[in-house]
Amino acid sequence: MKAIVCSAYGPLDSLQLAEVAKPAPKADQVLVKVYASSVNFNAPASVTGKPLIVRLMSGAPFTPKHQTPGNDIAGRVEAVGSSVKRFKPGDEVYGDLAECGYGAYAEYVAVPEAALALKPDNITYEQAAAVPEAGLVALQALRDFGGLKAGHKVLISGASGGIGSFAVQIAKALGAEVTAVCSTRNLDMVRSLGADHAIDYTQEDFVQTGQTYDLIVATAGYRSLADYKRALKPNGVHVATGGDMKQIFEPMLFGWWRPGGKKLGSLVLKVNKDLDFLSELLASGQVVPVIDRCYPLAEAGEALKYYAQGRTRGKIIISVAQDGD
Ligand SMILES: NC(=O)c1ccc[n+]([C@@H]2O[C@H](COP(=O)([O-])OP(=O)(O)OC[C@H]3O[C@@H](n4cnc5c(N)ncnc54)[C@H](OP(=O)(O)O)[C@@H]3O)[C@@H](O)[C@H]2O)c1
Repeated sequence: MKAIVCSAYGPLDSLQLAEVAKPAPKADQVLVKVYASSVNFNAPASVTGKPLIVRLMSGAPFTPKHQTPGNDIAGRVEAVGSSVKRFKPGDEVYGDLAECGYGAYAEYVAVPEAALALKPDNITYEQAAAVPEAGLVALQALRDFGGLKAGHKVLISGASGGIGSFAVQIAKALGAEVTAVCSTRNLDMVRSLGADHAIDYTQEDFVQTGQTYDLIVATAGYRSLADYKRALKPNGVHVATGGDMKQIFEPMLFGWWRPGGKKLGSLVLKVNKDLDFLSELLASGQVVPVIDRCYPLAEAGEALKYYAQGRTRGKIIISVAQDGD
């Protein structure tokens, strides 16, 4: 089978499509024919080895831990091991392989059934591949860390990106009043996703508007904890899911600091937790993945380079096979 292979840290241009052995499923594994994957932060980081902290945290200081990058997949079950209970050949599935060796940029993967959920029928493989990591970061930040309730005022910074575009839609589905922060070119897009208010960060500073929020989800950029605290209501919650390293690590270091009952923290994703909950939102049409661009598998390096520019609107998809193949 064909797969993207990266055997040494290097530039994104160095990614090669190679012929490798097709995996055979073990007793507890599902063999999935991959139709699509998507690009998350870990993919370019695992190829370039930058930022260095990612290399160190993955326990692979000198060579990539996983030779084939990528963690989100959507595809069709081709075969199952003898102890697999939840899936059968022909099932359409999707999931995040971050806890079972990555390797999504390939024609086939053999993975434990816990890494998979049934794909809703009403969405394409490309749409489904956009969901597992970004959608669950958004859900867990809003509902689990943020304690979001209907009627809450929520601000989402980085609302036009992968995580942000899911966060806007999930927050609306959960009954929140949503303010989306993005740049000028993305104002119409975030409104079309359901945002009640949109703030153009190139023109206006959400910290200075005088508005306060029950929950702030920050997926991009950097603001100090003092800024977030100023924009929160009493007992409000700020959760950083991404952005500048400082934005992620400051709440980890100072999360114990709860001025005025305000909670400030960073999200650590629980991989695949509640993917079935997201499936229901997708099946009902309350959440529709936003796709910026699709690249064929052979051009995965170009897809990663585009992602690394930090200007993605929604998600970037790696198309591995066409439906009907
Ligand atoms: N916590 C976890 O467990 C977890 C899991 C996965 C990923 N992450 C983190 O999530 C982040 C990546 O998320 P992603 O893939 O959703 O990002 P992304 O899609 O690459 O985000 C790109 C978007 O961010 C917007 N943006 C850039 N700077 C901004 C700013 N200062 N204010 C508002 N919007 C801004 C861009 O819009 P404009 O072009 O209009 O500026 C663009 O639409 C990474 O930092 C990664 O480490 C965390």
